[in-house]
Amino acid sequence: MRFDRRIVAVTGAASGFGRAIARGFAGLGARVFGCDIAREGLAEIASLPGIATAAVDLSDRAAAGRWIGEVEAAAGKAIDVLVNNAGGTLGKPFNPIEDVRDADWDYLFAVNVHAAMATIRAAARAMKAAKSGAIVNISSGAGLKPSLTGIQAYCASKHALVGLTRQLAEELGPFGIRVNSVAPGLVLNDAAKQRRWDGYSEEKRSARMSQIALRRLGSNEDIADGVLFLASDMARQITGQVLPVDGGA
Ligand SMILES: NC(=O)c1ccc[n+]([C@@H]2O[C@H](COP(=O)([O-])OP(=O)(O)OC[C@H]3O[C@@H](n4cnc5c(N)ncnc54)[C@H](O)[C@@H]3O)[C@@H](O)[C@H]2O)c1
Repeated sequence: MRFDRRIVAVTGAASGFGRAIARGFAGLGARVFGCDIAREGLAEIASLPGIATAAVDLSDRAAAGRWIGEVEAAAGKAIDVLVNNAGGTLGKPFNPIEDVRDADWDYLFAVNVHAAMATIRAAARAMKAAKSGAIVNISSGAGLKPSLTGIQAYCASKHALVGLTRQLAEELGPFGIRVNSVAPGLVLNDAAKQRRWDGYSEEKRSARMSQIALRRLGSNEDIADGVLFLASDMARQITGQVLPVDGGA
């Protein structure tokens, strides 16, 4: 599997899955453009060969679209692979539905769904003209079933991202553009997620592990490998699909 001369755009590239995805593509020959709101993390990956970075707040749809334009201008061609990875629960707490704040709800939707729509909208014109492209949206197990976090906007926005993936596969398929999603299972890739996991009762943790066929939580690289596959020519006949990478949860 190689991505030589391919232009790859990855959102949320400063940490976690996004960083592993950016590294994975660059390691297989791609020219990678990563963006994130977190400048320090970006500085670290910008030092790697084949990766250029930009600080972008993707909750601003116009900024998300502008970044795509900048990537196309720097590349001098259409983007070959677009990975919408930025997102998450974004530090928002679980609250019972009667206490959910509009601002928290809107911010999760802005980053988890609206930003993906905005980047795809901006990238589609050139991809259509090129008659090719691969888009991979990082959803979640919570895009297919209730979330372990209980955070309503997280679960609802990831379901929306799955819907957007399926709809755009239909719309863009005739132009040779594939749209798929990777739905990761839980990966304890930062202190906050580790703390949340540690905060679950022993019973909840072991119940959760016993629901995973492989009895292990995944890694950033496990998720990145699923993305590389779906973006690659090996997946040339695959579109509109959601690939759970969750150890068989
Ligand atoms: N880790 C898990 O267990 C897990 C499970 C299922 C799905 N996911 C999904 O995978 C994706 C990556 O998550 P991760 O675990 O690597 O977490 P992460 O927090 O390490 O990565 C998310 C990145 O998105 C960036 N980001 C957040 N808001 C942004 C904004 N407004 N503009 C630009 N960038 C912004 C963050 O700075 C961060 O670098 C997310 O969409 C998340 O929902 C994660």
